[in-house]
Amino acid sequence: MTNNPHFPLMLAPLKLKHNELKNRIIMGAMHTRLEALPNGAQRLADFYAERARGGVGLIITGGYAPNKAGHLEMNGPILHEHAQIDDHQIVTKAVHEAGSKIFLQILHAGRYGATLKTVAPSAIRAPISPLTPKALEPAQVEQTIKDFSTCAQLAHKAGYDGVEIMGSEGYLINQFTAARTNQRDDKWGGSVDNRHRFPLEIVRTIRADTPDEFIIMYRISSLELVEDGATGTQIISLAKEIEQAGADILSTGIGWHEARIPTIVYMVPRGTWSFAARRIKEAVNIPVVVSNRLNTPETVEEVLRDGHGDLAYLARPLLADPDFVNKAAAGERDQINICIACNQACLDYIFKAKAATCLVNPRAGHETDLQIIPADKPKRIAVIGGGAAGMAAASIAGARGHSVTLFEENE
Ligand SMILES: Cc1cc2nc3c(=O)[nH]c(=O)nc-3n(C[C@H](O)[C@H](O)[C@H](O)COP(=O)(O)O)c2cc1C
Ligand code: SF4
Repeated sequence: MTNNPHFPLMLAPLKLKHNELKNRIIMGAMHTRLEALPNGAQRLADFYAERARGGVGLIITGGYAPNKAGHLEMNGPILHEHAQIDDHQIVTKAVHEAGSKIFLQILHAGRYGATLKTVAPSAIRAPISPLTPKALEPAQVEQTIKDFSTCAQLAHKAGYDGVEIMGSEGYLINQFTAARTNQRDDKWGGSVDNRHRFPLEIVRTIRADTPDEFIIMYRISSLELVEDGATGTQIISLAKEIEQAGADILSTGIGWHEARIPTIVYMVPRGTWSFAARRIKEAVNIPVVVSNRLNTPETVEEVLRDGHGDLAYLARPLLADPDFVNKAAAGERDQINICIACNQACLDYIFKAKAATCLVNPRAGHETDLQIIPADKPKRIAVIGGGAAGMAAASIAGARGHSVTLFEENE
């Protein structure tokens, strides 16, 4: 707890091994596709640094594949070679200089991969994909575990403070842990213990191959929302095993992408899914992260106060407002630009192969090319019309140092 009168639990620091997070807000993983644009590394660095300056304690990158078979899409983000480290160093340096920690997320898409190389524990097509994956051979399973570790070691060399292993939302690791997608009869399938072997080996291998201070976070599926997904009991035992295997934090994910139940759109009430994180928190001794629809500081404070978790994972709310934490801490809650969970410029753009931005913050993803800098010569500016465009123009002109008068015909 801090002395901050506004959100004392949300703003409390957390000791994590040799590191300290300055508060409980984690910027959740979002693949923005900025890395694919010209000057991509710098754009990503500017995007994350702005959120770091805005006060978040920890940033998680969007998912990076550990090998080519793990790609979500052709030429998607991947970290598997030394030559790629330089670009990542631009990002980690910018975030550290801006005062936050940053982890790389390792995401193997499995049967959700939109490439011809797509693989899975068993050759079963996902209902949301036109492609049937190839079942991994036993030697390929072993190699994939090594690839996760190589990716983590490269992330360490690139300056990341840790990694998040993506084990939820129905991606490859989740496909191993659930009977729905794992019909193998070797040591990687069949019994629950066999199905858990793949993520446990990944965590153990990364733990053995990286220094102790390098933090391992595992994103566990805390609720599957699909038929033949893991049961609550199986999820709890996996959480305990992942802790035993050497993970330092458990973050949570909700539902597979193919689930029919909405998990993040506007009609899902804020904080709805925090009970699923709580079940895990009660079973383990490492910090647990609550996620999904925590888009106001009050919701974050409430889920922490109710003991649902130790930290909060906010993805879209930090697209909408990079200064979410600083504004909450300064008592300027009413100035926070709240994510309206419309998905129209973030996820919908990603599905259309465009770079993500935000309906309520068009600067998101344009931090490099749309800078609000002080004007050389401050002027007196009249803005005619107080609609959304007029107000935005007036506020940005004001931020640049102009003296602005806004005229609006209505009261
Ligand atoms: C544009 C976009 C990209 C995302 N990419 C990833 C990803 O790469 N890895 C991941 O684990 N989750 C990803 N997510 C899911 C978020 O981490 C988060 O779970 C989800 O948005 C719900 O949290 P929120 O309500 O705070 O946004 C993505 C979400 C969005 C909107
Ligand atoms: S586009 Fe909509 S859902 Fe996405 S971050 Fe912005 S307000 Fe939130």
